[in-house]
Amino acid sequence: MFNLILFGPPGSGKGTQSEKLIAKYNLKHLSTGDLLRSEIANQTALGLEAKKVMDKGELVPDEVVIGMISTAIDQNPDAKGFLFDGFPRTSAQAEALDKLLDLKKTSISIMLALDVSENELIKRLVKRGETSGRSDDVNEDIIRARITEYHKKTTAVADYYKQFDKVVLIKGEGSVEEIFDQICLQIDNII
Ligand code: AP5
Repeated sequence: MFNLILFGPPGSGKGTQSEKLIAKYNLKHLSTGDLLRSEIANQTALGLEAKKVMDKGELVPDEVVIGMISTAIDQNPDAKGFLFDGFPRTSAQAEALDKLLDLKKTSISIMLALDVSENELIKRLVKRGETSGRSDDVNEDIIRARITEYHKKTTAVADYYKQFDKVVLIKGEGSVEEIFDQICLQIDNII
């Protein structure tokens, strides 16, 4: 199995690149952000609780997202590999993911980390907020809170995978196609 973590701060292009990657490599896309937004759209108890946290730009509790990912992995026994987008976002989530994959006799193959300047992230998300309807894009304060949360809790995840030599930095600025080509180059190197 080939299991990829597409990593990076809010607005770095994880979702955009994921769409292209799953089509090219036939991977199962697991985005905790999408799973949470689907819970919100269905007005489940989990979704209603998560929305309160997401609207502040903070992270949903580890046990909630780990539970969602565990279920999603179990629901896809025939997957050729997984593309994790927006997960793991804390060291505890990274450790839990390794255990879940271990149970399936597999592991993370590589983490590709999109590197984008803060100004560019804010510019992209403010622009998307004009039309997306995403409540965490509505104003710059919330967007900045998401980026702060990333620096406080999520950058540690890259350090976690660095110890296993699994992290490759990708320049995340430029055209979507240019970035996609760089990502594919790294993937093709190891599959
Ligand atoms: P999530 O849905 O994961 O959002 P995020 O990480 O904040 O990322 P975004 O979706 O905003 O950005 P992206 O990197 O996917 O970029 P995109 O391709 O969309 O998480 C949302 C919330 O859910 C979190 O804040 C948290 O509360 C909760 N959550 C989710 N996972 C969690 C977890 N594991 N633990 C705890 N809580 C969790 O692109 C952004 C914009 O830029 C788009 O408009 C796009 O068109 C544009 N763009 C993309 N590439 C380029 C380019 N090359 N040039 C110019 N523009 C570009």
